Amino acid sequence: MGKTYEIGVIPGDGTGPDVIEEGLKVLKAVAEKTDINYNLILYDFGGKRYLSTGETLPDSAIEELRQMDVIYLGAIGHPDVKPGVLEKGILLNLRFSLDLYINLRPVKLYPGVDTPLKDKGPEHIDFVVVRENTEGLYAGSGGFLKKGTQDEIAVQDSINTRRGVERCLRFAFEYCRKRNREKRLTLCGKTNVLTYAFDLWERAFQEIGKEYPDIERDYAHVDAICMWMVKSPEQFDVIVTDNMFGDIITDLGAMIQGGMGIAAGANINPQGTSMFEPIGGSAPKYTGKNLINPLAAIMACQMMLEHLGEAEAAGLVERAVMKVIKNNMKSMDAGKMGIGTREAGNLVVEYIQGEE
Ligand code: IPM
Ligand code: MN
Repeated sequence: MGKTYEIGVIPGDGTGPDVIEEGLKVLKAVAEKTDINYNLILYDFGGKRYLSTGETLPDSAIEELRQMDVIYLGAIGHPDVKPGVLEKGILLNLRFSLDLYINLRPVKLYPGVDTPLKDKGPEHIDFVVVRENTEGLYAGSGGFLKKGTQDEIAVQDSINTRRGVERCLRFAFEYCRKRNREKRLTLCGKTNVLTYAFDLWERAFQEIGKEYPDIERDYAHVDAICMWMVKSPEQFDVIVTDNMFGDIITDLGAMIQGGMGIAAGANINPQGTSMFEPIGGSAPKYTGKNLINPLAAIMACQMMLEHLGEAEAAGLVERAVMKVIKNNMKSMDAGKMGIGTREAGNLVVEYIQGEE
């Protein structure tokens, strides 16, 4: 028998708890089948707790979460809380405090999922975005001068440290090598305008790239990447980029892979505790209605198993999800799936249990 994993669970707001419930069902089924042991440690951080206590994420919780093997997160965001409070207080706080410096977001079209891209199929849409997750415009550097006056100035700096850029690039080169597909790493930047930030990125990319002669180095500006992701997504294998561009292009990626209903991501600290989440928001209007698609959260659980080295369990989950898509689901979108949230989770469980 292997070790017992300690899993911190933050269901969060809106439909977060709905989809995490399905993810945990699936985890239980796959763990029984493959003899994985784990403990769940539940945390109620989110909008509700903030509105009643004024607390987002206490430092003591960060220290506790740091001791976990992994963290499983639903969604953060509440309609009654001013934008930014929960995002910065909980999600970004976790990413920064636990130094989750990679945000890994696969863009993969599964057979049977509709993409809005005419003439494109699963053979064309299968790449991974490595998003830097602790710096750039997200670092929180800047401020106001003369706030509230006609002369107001707002500055928001993009922070790019050589160390932060380098560790992200190294992860991307290593990941591209391990993925062993086209062995092409595309740097997504804006070297024609952001001539300081992306100069640093590009120089580091070329220098570090020399240590990876087996990986083809490719570059495109972020606006062109948006164009190519729609026009010829098959040219991408692994894309590496900064925090802000990564945020934007992965929403586009989620759409071409069939929608937020299936898009999952991993916030990784290769030396520490990592966190797994569906990349969509809390979708409050669907809360508790059995309409939201749990597959993104289930695929986040799949990435978590993969990260823990539980390849067999991860494979079982992915195959079961693919069966549900193929046999039971009409669309990835909330309310249009043809089945409910719970039924989708139950079907994934059934396929896992049914596999020889
Ligand atoms: C994401 C989200 C977050 C981000 C928000 C909620 C702060 O959009 O995970 O992509 O911008 O990183
Ligand atoms: Mn985003």
